Amino acid sequence: MTTGLLTLDDLDPARKTVLIRADFNVPVNAGVIQDDTRIRAGLPTLERLLAAPAAIILVSHLGRPQAGQYAAQFSLAPVAERLAALLRREVRLVSDWEQGVSVQPGEVALLENIRFLPGETDNSDELAQRLANLCDIYVNDAFATAHRAQASTHGVARYAPVACAGPLLLDEIATLTTALERPGRPLTAIVGGAKVSGKLLALENLIKKVDRLIVGGGIANTFLKAAGQPIGGSLCEDDLVNAAAGILGYAREHGKQVPLPEDVVCAKNLAADAPAQIKCLADIAADDFILDVGPQTIALNEQIINSSATILWNGPLGVFEIDQFATGTAALARAIAASPALSVAGGGDTVAAISRFGVTDGISCISTGGGAFLELLEGKTLPAVAVLERADA
Ligand code: 3PG
Repeated sequence: MTTGLLTLDDLDPARKTVLIRADFNVPVNAGVIQDDTRIRAGLPTLERLLAAPAAIILVSHLGRPQAGQYAAQFSLAPVAERLAALLRREVRLVSDWEQGVSVQPGEVALLENIRFLPGETDNSDELAQRLANLCDIYVNDAFATAHRAQASTHGVARYAPVACAGPLLLDEIATLTTALERPGRPLTAIVGGAKVSGKLLALENLIKKVDRLIVGGGIANTFLKAAGQPIGGSLCEDDLVNAAAGILGYAREHGKQVPLPEDVVCAKNLAADAPAQIKCLADIAADDFILDVGPQTIALNEQIINSSATILWNGPLGVFEIDQFATGTAALARAIAASPALSVAGGGDTVAAISRFGVTDGISCISTGGGAFLELLEGKTLPAVAVLERADA
């Protein structure tokens, strides 16, 4: 997938003005950044270009403001400040760049939230051209926004004098592509979370590629129902029971394993102080809610993880935010981290679980992407990457 992409290795950015699309869409609360992982992830690219030295103009969005309106809570000012501290140099936040941006080699300017401008989300040619006119080289290093065809991720690449893929974007795509298309086997995917609906396309694509598919959370309930098992009053999408049955049928016919939970942790309501009980499926009562997997299932999951060569993880196995329903997800996270397999994890809840259980260092690749990661699992082409493909490649 990355073979036709121009990269920084092919270019000499020295004394050039480089426009970098980054994803600085970080959680901000009352002006304070809650997690700067995405900012840190882009630092090696910036340091490399500053050393060239290139003049750097950064462009990013933050949140989903209304186009055409400034709103302080979506300002990139806290990002400029954090970036300046991390780079130990001034990062100028520029709101008005109608007449261009004056930036010298070794300097960094950050354009204010590009989604304040009309034309960004609808990929207007006019805004794309204005962005392209700012630079000699456009670098897309925003894997997490690569599923969006917008002026700063897509249109600009068509008008910039040169458009290339940045190291972070390349790295994430290469790791995920290897895991999906050329994996060491057995390849195991774990897809958890509340609902099948948001992940049906990923499940349908993954079952064709993996050797084992572990489903967890509310998704597992829908699969259990499809397999004729009792789930009490647990979260379940009745309209997707047939789709789940289809995936189970495909797995059976093609020799793939989809191990469903054998035992679970239940409670009568979802609360930190609700009495929790470990039950085998046959004992589930009509008013039980399944909120985690039980010890037998944990042991089975560990066995599967320990014998995998490649692991893809998206979504928790239970309500891990509440201690008494966190055991299954914690055990999974620890097993993946302890495994020598190539492990790739992505998605907001998954990254939160990895950080909560302190296993960040054990995961081979933690994607910066949420939606973009899922779209790759679905087998989709990311438009911001496709537009960088060279016609001559
Ligand atoms: C993300 O957080 O997934 C990306 O930054 C894309 O944001 P969006 O869903 O608002 O386009």
